[in-house]
Amino acid sequence: MGYIPEEIIEEILHKTDIVQIISEYVLLKKRGKNYFGICPFHQEDTPSFSVTPDKQIFYCFGCNAGGNVLKFLMLKEGISYPEAIRMAGVKVGVHVPDHYNTNNTRESQERQRSYKIIATASKFFQQHLLYHKDTEARNYLQSRNISSDMIETFQIGYAPSGWNNLLNFLAAKGAKVDELFKLGLIVKSQQGTNYYDRFRNRVMLPIHDAAGRIVGFGGRTIDGGNPKYLNSPETPYFNKRHLLYGLHLARSAIRDCGYAVVMEGYLDVVAAHQYGIKNTVATLGTALTRDQVKLLMRYTDEIVISYDADAAGVQAAIRGLDIIQQLGCRVKVLHIPEGKDPDDFIRAHGVDGWHKLIKSAYNLIDFKLHIAFRKGIPTSVPEKISVLQEIVPNLSNIKNSVEQEESIKKVASALSLSWESVISELKRYQTDLGKKSPNGDKFVIKTDNNIKRKSKLTAREQAEFLLLGIILTDFELFSIVKQEIKLEHFGSGENQKIYSLLLKSTDEQRREPAMLMQHLNEKEQNTLSRLLSQQIPGENPVDILNDCIKIIKEQAGKKHQQQLLMRLKEAERAGDMQQVAELLQQLQQLSNTMNTDLP
Ligand code: UTP
Ligand code: MN
Repeated sequence: MGYIPEEIIEEILHKTDIVQIISEYVLLKKRGKNYFGICPFHQEDTPSFSVTPDKQIFYCFGCNAGGNVLKFLMLKEGISYPEAIRMAGVKVGVHVPDHYNTNNTRESQERQRSYKIIATASKFFQQHLLYHKDTEARNYLQSRNISSDMIETFQIGYAPSGWNNLLNFLAAKGAKVDELFKLGLIVKSQQGTNYYDRFRNRVMLPIHDAAGRIVGFGGRTIDGGNPKYLNSPETPYFNKRHLLYGLHLARSAIRDCGYAVVMEGYLDVVAAHQYGIKNTVATLGTALTRDQVKLLMRYTDEIVISYDADAAGVQAAIRGLDIIQQLGCRVKVLHIPEGKDPDDFIRAHGVDGWHKLIKSAYNLIDFKLHIAFRKGIPTSVPEKISVLQEIVPNLSNIKNSVEQEESIKKVASALSLSWESVISELKRYQTDLGKKSPNGDKFVIKTDNNIKRKSKLTAREQAEFLLLGIILTDFELFSIVKQEIKLEHFGSGENQKIYSLLLKSTDEQRREPAMLMQHLNEKEQNTLSRLLSQQIPGENPVDILNDCIKIIKEQAGKKHQQQLLMRLKEAERAGDMQQVAELLQQLQQLSNTMNTDLP
């Protein structure tokens, strides 16, 4: 056991591309040299989260979070620093030998162990599906035309009949009964004296988290038993409302296609993939939640919901739709004809049929009108108003003003109402909304009313920031600064720390921002990211530096002067004449240097 050596960390940092790694979590758009996206660390609806590939850092102008790729992984995955190093290492193919201490907390040790147990259970199910003498599960999958490729890709398995196959298998490998119980793999008998396997005689579909780890299972009956799907219970790792089935396999396709399709069934996703339609995921038997939408918004800003035409399906779809739109994502609704689900439809009509269907998807307003009109075309004014009131929140949420205007026209015409009455209903809704939730907490309204926590800098802070920013970009200029500015000239502790690192850094590699981060605490990392993300004015950098140096020294001098004056007062009060004389001398010296430095 020991710390991971600096060389390994440096190698990993050198091989990682922060843009690529953050893209797995945040939808980034290029703007100039940098990338911008919606910050994953605070609630916002206009992107203030920036990634700077040159410097391999991220910084959020809204909430001030910043750092290198390791910090990002720590924050985003909730892992420790050594774990983040390991994780980044895996991504770039740099192996961190096991004997280096990664799991320094008991909690993370327990977590690793839990993931391992679940993964082992999944292996056990997979083995059983392929090699067990009982062919029922294999026959079942065949009857549903699920290819062996998909069985492998989705790691589909079989939980055999019998009460304790898995329990015995995992216990023999050293897992404890209470661990298995906590992970939902076994259940307690009614008397509470015995434990037995939760999943028996079911086809097992492992469910992965966004990081690609198996965290639970859905088990489909093959003998008509109830329920049709038995899922893992809620555990610290398995929360149905946070997970999306198949996301680990769909991520890159979602990014490439520019939209994600959310289906209802696990096997719908499997069928879609079998036909090469890979931008598909499924919810886990619940309506789409905010967390799930946010998860998808890491990869896309358009979500297509495929819903069952039955009443429950429509209700679930509607709830999902509003959430998506509130979060600022475009949304469409896919209606599959003949009451089929995607599985049947894709198998019957193939990829071409599917793409045609996607083209015919309703946009949100059309879908809402369609649903409202299914109950009959509204003719009386109260009926029309009631439909209008259902749609107005969606109109209000449309960000693009041209699109909003188009939709207002569409609604007015569909309901045979005047443009003015739709507008006035919309205005009323927006005023009411403003009264109800002044912070726009529930709804993301068009006017950006998020609190921006960006603090204004004083002239001194600004000068320190600019100075550090310039020498970090052009290290040649450090020689000018070094002669003039000493550590104690800095007013902010964080800036001082960063400057001290620069004074100490001997070789070029260690001076790179991503590397400097290694030696800074959380707050200092945020500061470094902030100052690196500032716009440096286009003037001659030497002129700017000289201005900064002047301000910094002047301000530091003033501060020092104040301190001396205070001490002088004290010394006078105490009658310490020697001290008074010394302080007076110091003050004189100080004012000399300050004057010579000033024009
Ligand atoms: P459906 O009942 O629509 O089934 O459930 P399906 O996906 O078409 O399944 P097959 O094709 O008959 O095998 C849709 C989803 O609802 C959840 C599961 O996530 C399922 O994929 N569900 C359904 C459960 O969690 N439990 C159940 O008992 C039924
Ligand atoms: Mn189905």
